[in-house]
Amino acid sequence: MNFNAAVEAHVVHEPLVEVRERPVQRCFVCVHGEIPIGGMRPVTANGRSIVVARLSDGSYRAVANTCPREAARMSDGKVERMWHGDEVGEHRQNGRCVIICPWHNFEFDLDTGRSACETDRMRLKTYRVAIEGGNVAVYV
Ligand code: FES
Repeated sequence: MNFNAAVEAHVVHEPLVEVRERPVQRCFVCVHGEIPIGGMRPVTANGRSIVVARLSDGSYRAVANTCPREAARMSDGKVERMWHGDEVGEHRQNGRCVIICPWHNFEFDLDTGRSACETDRMRLKTYRVAIEGGNVAVYV
């Protein structure tokens, strides 16, 4: 007899806390091209406040429109290429883009949502974006 198999059959896995998950919805937020390169648009999708940004390569990113620091509207900020450097005083731009908070200029990577300076502490929620049938869809 396999004792472990008999015990396993009676184990009931219950979550420690109730987790309410909202089903992901596809929300069309604009026509492809309506947002200019380097521009942003605040939208409400599936009850969430989101900002959709268009990068210099024409692609889109979507993140939460509320700054995790003191709740500024990220859509009042701006989108820029990310600056970085390996030495003090060295400044180079790479291919990644950030959204810059309008209140205290914290930068958040538009691919990961992470703060450029406090990567483990502050983060914007990111959402999947796709161009479908000539429209921009955000999966929220
Ligand atoms: S409210 Fe966004 S950095 Fe201060």
